[in-house]
Amino acid sequence: MTLEDREEKEDRRPLVHFTPRKGFMNDPNGLVYSKGIWHLYFQLSDQQMVAGHPEWGHATSRDLTHWTRHGKAIIAPSEKVSIFSGCCVIDSHNTSGLFTETTDLEDRLVAVYTLHADGLETQCIAYSNDGGYTFTPYGDNPILDINCADFRDPKVIWHEPSNQWIMLVAKCRQFQIGFYGSPDLKTWQHLSDFEGGGVRGYQYEMPNLMQVPFDDDPLHKKWVLLLSISPGAPLGGSFTQYFIGDFDGTRFSSLDNYLRTADLGKDWYAAQTWFSSSDDQVYGIGWASNWQYGQKVPARTYRSAMSLPRKFTLREVSLNDVTSSLSLIMRPVLPRISQSNGATSNGSSTSELDGSITINGSDQLRIDSVYNKSMKNSAFEFKLTISSTPSNPAVTSATLIAEISNAQHQSVRLSFIIDEQGMYCSVNRGSSCTGSKWEHPLYEDKVCMWIPKTQVEYDIHVIIDEYICEIFVNEGSYAFTNTFFLEDGSPSRISVSHDGVAAKIFNVYELDG
Ligand code: FRU
Repeated sequence: MTLEDREEKEDRRPLVHFTPRKGFMNDPNGLVYSKGIWHLYFQLSDQQMVAGHPEWGHATSRDLTHWTRHGKAIIAPSEKVSIFSGCCVIDSHNTSGLFTETTDLEDRLVAVYTLHADGLETQCIAYSNDGGYTFTPYGDNPILDINCADFRDPKVIWHEPSNQWIMLVAKCRQFQIGFYGSPDLKTWQHLSDFEGGGVRGYQYEMPNLMQVPFDDDPLHKKWVLLLSISPGAPLGGSFTQYFIGDFDGTRFSSLDNYLRTADLGKDWYAAQTWFSSSDDQVYGIGWASNWQYGQKVPARTYRSAMSLPRKFTLREVSLNDVTSSLSLIMRPVLPRISQSNGATSNGSSTSELDGSITINGSDQLRIDSVYNKSMKNSAFEFKLTISSTPSNPAVTSATLIAEISNAQHQSVRLSFIIDEQGMYCSVNRGSSCTGSKWEHPLYEDKVCMWIPKTQVEYDIHVIIDEYICEIFVNEGSYAFTNTFFLEDGSPSRISVSHDGVAAKIFNVYELDG
C-alpha cells in the first residue's frame, strides 16, 4: 500500500460527499456536463491545510455520486498568482475560434476564472482540447479588467434569445453583480449592474444565474440568481441567498425584495450549478463549510467536503395559512435515487435495513427510546414524517430526537420540536455531545432552523456522512446543512425517541461510497 493509500484510508472521509486527496478545498468551480461526464473543479490549495494559493482541482463522475479525482486542471503560472473561482462552458459552435475543426463539439470546454495577482482581480479564459482534463490559457488574457481589487467569480451562460454569452462577475465590496455580454467569450461589453437587496454582509461572492423549472410544470421556468455573502451571514460567517426574477438579456430584475436563503444551515456556501446536464434539469452543489471556522475544523491530510449535488426546481411554499412564496426547492442526488432513474451506479450498493416502523404518540411527557439501529457504514440516510399528537390538546410542544452516535457514545443530536406555529429543527453538535476537544469560539454548539406549520405532517429526509449532516424538509422546501465532529470515531448508530409526536420512520439506507 502506498503512503497515499494509507493516508487516504486512515483519514476520516465521507463516503458519498466529495473530498480532495490532500490540502484545503473551498468553492466548487467550472461545473459542466459533457459526453456523459459530470466535471467538478474546485478551489484547491494543495500545499497547505488552510486557504492560500488556490488553483483548480478536478474530479469527474458518471452519476454525480461517485467521483474520480484527477490532477490539477488549471495551474497558477507563479507562486504569487492564484487561480480563483470561475466556471466552464461548452463552446460547441467555436464562437471563440479557440478550437480546430477536429475537436469534438462536446469537448470544446472553455474555463472562465479570476486571476488574483498583485492586488488586482481580472477575468481570464483557458481552453481545453481534451474534454476538460488540461487547459491552455488564452494568449490575450485578461479578457475583462476594470482595474479593481475585488472583482471576481465569473459565471458564464449562453443566452439563446439575445444570442450571446452572458457573464456575471461580483463587484464584491460595491455590492453589485456586473453583467457583461459577448459574442465570442473574448470581448466583453458591460450590460448592467444588479444592485441586490437582501443581506450585504462584508462582500458579495460567487454569483450564479440559472433558469429553473417549476416542480409541477417543467416547461415553466424562472431565472434565479444565487449570491453568496461572507462574512456577515444572518447565522454568522458565510451563506448563500437567492433572488427569483426575470432576465432579458441585459438586466436581471428580482420579483421582490424578500430575503431568500438557499440553505438554512451553517455549512453550505458558494453554491454553483452545472452549465449543462444529462436531462435538462438544473443541478448544483455547495461547499459544505463556512469561512467563519472552515480553516480550523479537525483535519489531518485534507480539509473540507462538498455538499451532495442537488436538483433545483421552483415551487410556491406556504409561509402561513394565507401567504405563500415562490421558493427554490433542493433535492439531494444519492446513489439510490440515481439508480431508480436508471443511471449507472458504478457498483454502489445501498441496502434497505428496515421497512417501516410507526411510533404512536405518547400522552405522557416522557421520552421513550423507540427505535435503534446499528450500521456498518458511516454514511446512511433516513426519512421520517412527524406530526404532533391530535389526541392530546394539552400538548403545546412535541419533540422527536434522533441521536446519531458512534461506538464511544459520542453523538450529534437532531431535535424536531413542533408547536402551534411550526417546527424547530435543531442540531446539537457541541462538544458535550460529540466529545470533541476541538473548540472554536464561532463554531456554535446548537444550530436551528424553523419551518412554518402549513401542513399536518412534516416530511424529513436526513443524510449523515461521517461529519456532514444534510436535512431536507417538506420535499426539498427547506435545506439545512451542518458539519459535526465526533471525537473518536464514525457515526454508526441511530436511536430515535419521542415525546408527544406521532412519527413514521422508514427507509433507513446505508450508503456506500
Ligand atoms: C469564495 C471565495 C471566492 C474566491 C475564492 C478564493 O469562497 O472567496 O470569492 O474566488 O473563494 O479561493
